[in-house]
Amino acid sequence: MIRLAHYSDIHVTVPPLGQSITALAGKRVMGTLNYYLGGRRSHFAQVETRIGTLLADIDAVGVDHALCTGDVTQMSYAIEFERLSALYGPRLQQPERHTVIPGNHDRYTHDATGERRFERALGALAPERYPWLKALSPEVELICLDVARPNTLLDSSGLIDEAQLQALVELLRSPERRGHFVIVALHYGFFRKGGRPDNPVHGIRNWRELLSVLVDPAHPVDLILHGHIHGAFEFMVSGRRVINAGSATDLAHQPGYNIYEIDPAAKTVGVQRRSFEGESYRPGELLHVPEISFVPGS
Ligand SMILES: [Fe+2]
Ligand SMILES: [Fe+2]
Repeated sequence: MIRLAHYSDIHVTVPPLGQSITALAGKRVMGTLNYYLGGRRSHFAQVETRIGTLLADIDAVGVDHALCTGDVTQMSYAIEFERLSALYGPRLQQPERHTVIPGNHDRYTHDATGERRFERALGALAPERYPWLKALSPEVELICLDVARPNTLLDSSGLIDEAQLQALVELLRSPERRGHFVIVALHYGFFRKGGRPDNPVHGIRNWRELLSVLVDPAHPVDLILHGHIHGAFEFMVSGRRVINAGSATDLAHQPGYNIYEIDPAAKTVGVQRRSFEGESYRPGELLHVPEISFVPGS
């Protein structure tokens, strides 16, 4: 049995108008409008306090590993990444206890991605390449994907490139996976909580290809974890359990995170939600939505 914490979309956010003019150009025009007119300023007010509380709560409840499924910043500003590093503190030296994968907000611009700001800020907690396989115990394996990329003004979509998809297939078909409990983690999800696919400018462009691989009966995928959609929910699709942790800090939704008790031999996952209420994280409820139908390859 292992205990895994799963949180997402913590979004360290600085006021865009405090940044230089060049830092407001291009894609960040949309982020700036979102901040001042779309409610982000209030939804992420004092977010660093909540992130500190979150990380302390994860330490206090006692888990074997903690996974963040991306969007650790709002606009990939260097200052946002600096603040993030400070919040993690000594945890940055504990890759055996923490893993963080990037979201679209951490690959917001070509500059930020080219400078590898995410990787430099998270150090050993960030995967070195994708797919990235990490053993959480002798029986439990985590496969991390990165489908985030810099986008144009009105586009937040992700994409899995052919090389990463093929490498994923090889990992899943390897005899080394046999008998293991395999978790696949990525930032983006596939469906909204109502059951319809995420829209083309918010989801993964080639999501059908990726999901077809993940639900292939020949591939031992026991659990799929993601974020990106800030309201949390879980569901089954083609026999696979999918859990969206939602945002741990966005006050526009019920912020929270999940703890999974994984029994690899029995292939069971117990889920506990911890919701942010008042000034702390407390036991909460995770929304279950009805099974979603998907025809692989379609
Ligand atoms: Fe997000
Ligand atoms: Fe996102």
